[in-house]
Amino acid sequence: MIVTIDGPAGAGKSSAAKALARRLGFRFLDTGAMYRAVALAALQRDHDWSRPEALVALTREIKLELDDDRVFLNGADVSESIRDIAVTTATHYAADNPGVREILVELQRTIAGSQNVVSEGRDQGTVVFPDAPCKIFLTATPQERARRRLEELTSRGEQVTFEEILSQQEIRDHRDSTRPCGPLKQAEDAIEVLTDGLSADEVVDRLEKLVRAHLTPNPFFHVPTPALETCLVRFVARHRPDGGGPGVRHPRARQGTHSKIWRRPGPFKPPEPPGSGDHRHLFQRTIELCGP
Ligand code: DC
Repeated sequence: MIVTIDGPAGAGKSSAAKALARRLGFRFLDTGAMYRAVALAALQRDHDWSRPEALVALTREIKLELDDDRVFLNGADVSESIRDIAVTTATHYAADNPGVREILVELQRTIAGSQNVVSEGRDQGTVVFPDAPCKIFLTATPQERARRRLEELTSRGEQVTFEEILSQQEIRDHRDSTRPCGPLKQAEDAIEVLTDGLSADEVVDRLEKLVRAHLTPNPFFHVPTPALETCLVRFVARHRPDGGGPGVRHPRARQGTHSKIWRRPGPFKPPEPPGSGDHRHLFQRTIELCGP
């Protein structure tokens, strides 16, 4: 299963996604680190930023590997150096380059393969894994994000003001959300989690609950699908606003069995003995009957 976590810079995505992956035993994929590594590779080679096509060629050439929160560029561990200010400042050249994005998106899909993954970035739920069953948009107000960043930087002894951080953050947010290719955007089916006032542990607790809700097996698993479907159709008929009165049928119901069910349902009959159940079919049927 793929869990995507997207959101703006400073919302605490990386640490939350990493901790969540550990708790679930999933692989952690830090896609921002990949864009940073491309920028670092370019800086190491004195790349001319006015030549975007050369950056695409360089991205194709380098060997990028991710192992949990460690990043390897051509075999060397660059996990710390990709966080340098010079790299952070240059990373937008990689992130804004459609050719680079195409290569990295492909690599992200290859790494994820068929594994259980928590993938974190800006475009994971929208572009890279649009079919992911669990999408989270992790965010916080700009003031809260700037306050956290200020705390982090001053604890490292850096001299910076709240206003400076806030204005840099606005620039980054604008750049991230207006990028023509793979912009920061909440997927329509993503769940927004606002982290203002929550501790790091509380954020992970909340995310874990959300993901586990998607993992919870169907409690009717042992019931054969046709029996469960019958119960479902009866349930929906009984709870329709019009009371499922005589003559009202589901538009797709065939004459016969289903049309009878859509008239006044009889008393609830317990499902038939255990057998195998097909959840996907059932889920689809629920959507057909009740709407998405
Ligand atoms: O999350 P981060 O700060 O490590 O990301 C570094 C940069 O890469 C940032 O400018 C946003 C960009 N990015 C992106 O465009 N798409 C992603 N999937 C992840 C990050």
